[in-house]
Amino acid sequence: MSDYKTLIYEAAKKVLPELDAADVTASDAFCDYCVPCFKFAKILRKSPAAIAAEAAAAIDIPGIKTESLNGYLNFTIEREAFVKQAFAAKLGEYKPFAGKTICIDFSSVNIAKPFHIGHLMTTVIGGALCNFYRALGANVVGINHLGDFGTQFGGLISAYRRWGNEEKLASRGLDELLELYVRYHNESEKDEAIAREAREWSQKIESGDAYAVGLFDKFKAITLEQAKKVYKRLNIEFDSYLGESFYVDKVKGVEDKLVAKNLLKTSEGARIVELGDDMPPALIRRSDGASLYIARDLAAAYYRHQTYKFDKCLYVVASHQALHFKQLFAVLDLLGEPWAKDMVHVSYGMVSVEGMSLSTRRGNVLYLSDVLDAAVEKALAIISERSSELEDKATVAESVGVGAVVFDALYDGRLKDKNFSLADALNFDGETGPYVQYTHARCRSVLAKAGYKSGSGIDFKQLCDDEAYETVKLVADFDETVKNAAERYEPSVVSRRLVKICQAYNRFYNADRIMCGGEAQAARLALTARVADTLKYGLHLLLLDAPQKM
Ligand code: ARG
Repeated sequence: MSDYKTLIYEAAKKVLPELDAADVTASDAFCDYCVPCFKFAKILRKSPAAIAAEAAAAIDIPGIKTESLNGYLNFTIEREAFVKQAFAAKLGEYKPFAGKTICIDFSSVNIAKPFHIGHLMTTVIGGALCNFYRALGANVVGINHLGDFGTQFGGLISAYRRWGNEEKLASRGLDELLELYVRYHNESEKDEAIAREAREWSQKIESGDAYAVGLFDKFKAITLEQAKKVYKRLNIEFDSYLGESFYVDKVKGVEDKLVAKNLLKTSEGARIVELGDDMPPALIRRSDGASLYIARDLAAAYYRHQTYKFDKCLYVVASHQALHFKQLFAVLDLLGEPWAKDMVHVSYGMVSVEGMSLSTRRGNVLYLSDVLDAAVEKALAIISERSSELEDKATVAESVGVGAVVFDALYDGRLKDKNFSLADALNFDGETGPYVQYTHARCRSVLAKAGYKSGSGIDFKQLCDDEAYETVKLVADFDETVKNAAERYEPSVVSRRLVKICQAYNRFYNADRIMCGGEAQAARLALTARVADTLKYGLHLLLLDAPQKM
């Protein structure tokens, strides 16, 4: 909490004992901070307006004006003092999650499937959340829970042996695997022999048969090689790539716990956990003995809890798996694990690209790398036109193109379905990644032209006009904005704030001439530097580069 907010909270709490810290909110309409008094009306049996008026009269904080308006308690800080405090606080020094461990399960791609656009949201939301928590002092464990187990890999081996060969696999990589998989899928529906053969191969993988495992490992390496190229472009790294196959032999341990609590039931040969009337039972093992997805997730949850002793374990997975996670958490709850409450499904909506919905099933997939390439190509064309003399345009275009896609994915609330449009994402004047990157580069160019050096004293009165002050306010509590985003698992809180900072800075830039000489110029340059640093910091948190020149 910023010092002023703490000050206001503590003073107001003396008058309104029911006040929570979260009731004190930043406001840009009538004041700097406000407290809505509606929630106290019931407890105090008075109207919100009367409560606000009485509280306003009773609260006295030096340097802060307190007023009541329409049931709100409004606090207005003396501007010069506020600006001074804003510049005293160093960006990124706020560490409210120090000492906490947060596991984040995200991206979690499937072996032998291309990295398609359906995996964009989990990858960028998870990547951004890792950065937020890390910046706020947490120990973050980024986990790519690979989809590397299932009968489909037996199918792939049998398809490879029937229709594929080593040369084609080496030259075509994932394209070949995808084609083989689709062919297996189609033909096994017609020919039971293929399905039987596939089951045999998947049993061989499981029993550790050297040939089967060797092929599977090759498929895995090809998939990961492609995925890692994409992660590199997105500035993402993982701490663990332990996938589903790692947990297969650990399901037994979970079953033992379930048996000890008398929770494992048999139903038509399958082993299940009943979850009451409002949820279907969790299927742990099929009648043929094969473990199911949720069983491996249970084993993974125990493993993570033992290995990392997490304070929180997040799963960034699409909303269509909501029931799976509800069941997973419910089973842990039945098992009496107190940490079941620390597990969170961070859900998100569907992505379509210009109206076309995507499915991986039949091969009509859109590769994420192709979307990124298209964005980079378009970015290069725009940059070449806008700044023909810019050096190293290709590097800047990569940052801008990839950044446009990522920022766009992170700009709306995560639960909203998205229809992605390349033209909108790359609009330099819209609420986009390129707009924020461009504003950052413009600040840098203003500073370079002025030969600005940080460190000299600032006359804070010079930043008290509306435009400058509005900009100061938006950068002042940036760390708190990041905390807010982390707590709500909502990167759009940060992306939206960045756009607001750019808009405020551009208003300030147009209203207040920067190169005006004297104290005002020095202060305005210092604000420009602060804005540039905040934009760069925020862009990095959202996985984007911040080119120095654009
Ligand atoms: N591989 C899965 C998919 O692509 C997502 C896995 C999510 N993580 C988990 N622990 N279940 O749908």
